[in-house]
Amino acid sequence: MCGIVGYIGPRSCTSIIVEGLRKLEYRGYDSAGIAVVDVSPGAQAKGEQAKLHVVRAVGKLGKLDDVLREKPVPGTVGVGHTRWATHGRPTEANAHPHLVGDVAVVHNGILENHVELRRELLAKGRKFLSETDTEIAAHLIDIALQTESSLLVATQRALAQVRGAFAIVVVSRREPDVIIAARNFSPLVLGVGEGENFAASDVPALLAHTRDFIFLEDGDVAELRAEKITIMHAGQKVERPSKRVDWSPTQAEKQGYKHFMLKEIFEQPTAIENTLRGRVILETADIEEGEVGVTAALAKSTRRVILLACGTSHHAAIAGRNWIESIAKVPAQVELASEFRYRDAIVDEHDLIVAVSQSGETADTLAAVKDAKRRGAKILAVVNVVGSAIPRVADGAFYTHAGPEIGVASTKCFTAQLAALLMLAVYLGRRRGTLTEERSLSLLQHLCEIPSAMREVLEEAGTCQKVARRQLVATDARDCLFLGRGLSFPIALEGALKLKEISYVHAEGYAAGEMKHGPIALIDAQMPVIVVAPNDSHYEKIASNAQEVRAREGRIIAIVPKGDHTIAQIAQEVIHVPDVDPELTPFVTVVPLQLLSYYAADLKGTDVDQPRNLAKTVTVE
Ligand code: G6P
Repeated sequence: MCGIVGYIGPRSCTSIIVEGLRKLEYRGYDSAGIAVVDVSPGAQAKGEQAKLHVVRAVGKLGKLDDVLREKPVPGTVGVGHTRWATHGRPTEANAHPHLVGDVAVVHNGILENHVELRRELLAKGRKFLSETDTEIAAHLIDIALQTESSLLVATQRALAQVRGAFAIVVVSRREPDVIIAARNFSPLVLGVGEGENFAASDVPALLAHTRDFIFLEDGDVAELRAEKITIMHAGQKVERPSKRVDWSPTQAEKQGYKHFMLKEIFEQPTAIENTLRGRVILETADIEEGEVGVTAALAKSTRRVILLACGTSHHAAIAGRNWIESIAKVPAQVELASEFRYRDAIVDEHDLIVAVSQSGETADTLAAVKDAKRRGAKILAVVNVVGSAIPRVADGAFYTHAGPEIGVASTKCFTAQLAALLMLAVYLGRRRGTLTEERSLSLLQHLCEIPSAMREVLEEAGTCQKVARRQLVATDARDCLFLGRGLSFPIALEGALKLKEISYVHAEGYAAGEMKHGPIALIDAQMPVIVVAPNDSHYEKIASNAQEVRAREGRIIAIVPKGDHTIAQIAQEVIHVPDVDPELTPFVTVVPLQLLSYYAADLKGTDVDQPRNLAKTVTVE
């Protein structure tokens, strides 16, 4: 949700922090702020105290940038924040950093015992200037500093009193040559530089400066100096070796595309090639063991697979469930993590939980996974962000290697998840002897051809733009229905979600067979109905559903294979996709839906990469 960037080193820090925050703006962006420790030359020798400048602005990061340009703030140690409001409205007073005494604090997450702590602090005569829970942390550190000599120890003492999920970064004018960074269930990474160090909510914020990262564990409190990082855990000093991240800085740039989302849609063929690389072994018609995060023994002994996810990842998980049953013949179910964690679901040591998450940080998925683990289930994380929280809790990780995804609406991470889940199904089927070598080879060969099939669909981008203009924008469509069956059902859900997320058009994804149980009542000449009908065993059934739509004058946008005539005849618009193996249709049918939503949003002029109210990484419930 919120974004944090901290810097300590020899360079002037405001532009490093603001540029880093820009890379994190997708996380939340209703206000922003920065705190900079300013030590004038020779001040320490003269016994003068450093200054602590805090600048905050409501709105997008550009507003903060404007203030800083007008009134530059000197200093080489600082911390910045973009806020996605949880406690208190997006006002300047509620924006971070929060300054109490000599200390400035930024925070991502929620302090759960904030009500009692605020009451206690008020009783002690403390005054609050904001409605945030973060200000409480700043008071606690300020109080601890009255008796503790170091900011590190004071922060540890303060954090021992709070409960909840947080990533916190602290600077103080009393100790101008340190930054403190602490993590508990909210993302925070440390970037290791030469003679300089960084803290940030996510890797892309720092890629312009370093590729070496320390992934903090929950409960860690780190002291960053320009030359040194010290990490404490439960009062003990611990070593956390840095890891090299192979994402390049240019991957986190738009590279000439109008929006990150469009770039990421076009990157999908390459992203999938990266997901498959080193894993698909055509010679043995198999998936490389050790590459999927599940041992052969576990693959054989698992009695049931439960896929847990939220949002777009949940749609990939539905396709994954279908594949695990149809290809590997293992009973499988898929659940929304936010529901699963609060119902008395039956989970035991014979279950394999597959947690699907692009960020690896989603609070509901993480909590559901921890709960299932306590009950003895084995956990596999299918995740894009290396070093994130879910794979650290899991027994094994299957990284999707899609590269950094910046657009809030997920696209390439979704199709990379599909590729990973399909490989997982093949792997399980081969280990359990439920998938023949012949069928496995055919599936894997076709899977390797998917990137070029997707490139073919991307050539239809112009058609998608015209259809979006004619059917969604010119007609000012307010509601849309997306229909699919079988593997096209999660694609219908995903198409509807994309349209809602970025163009703010109300859309419903429906299993086409369910249309007659409700949504058919909505259909009239104003209603665009997107029919996802690839060449598979459901084609004739969905063709009948399309007829039912047409009979009620619904406007059909058909996603059909080349050579289709049946649905094309009754559709207002036709977008063709290549004919692929019936198990692999989601890879090609989702692309036109992503493009339709993208162009609808772009033509309407909405904020495509940072849609209102949404955040890419949802670290609160
Ligand atoms: C947010 C994002 C979605 C994402 C969902 C789950 O809502 O905006 O794009 O699908 O969280 O995130 P995850 O990181 O767990 O896949």
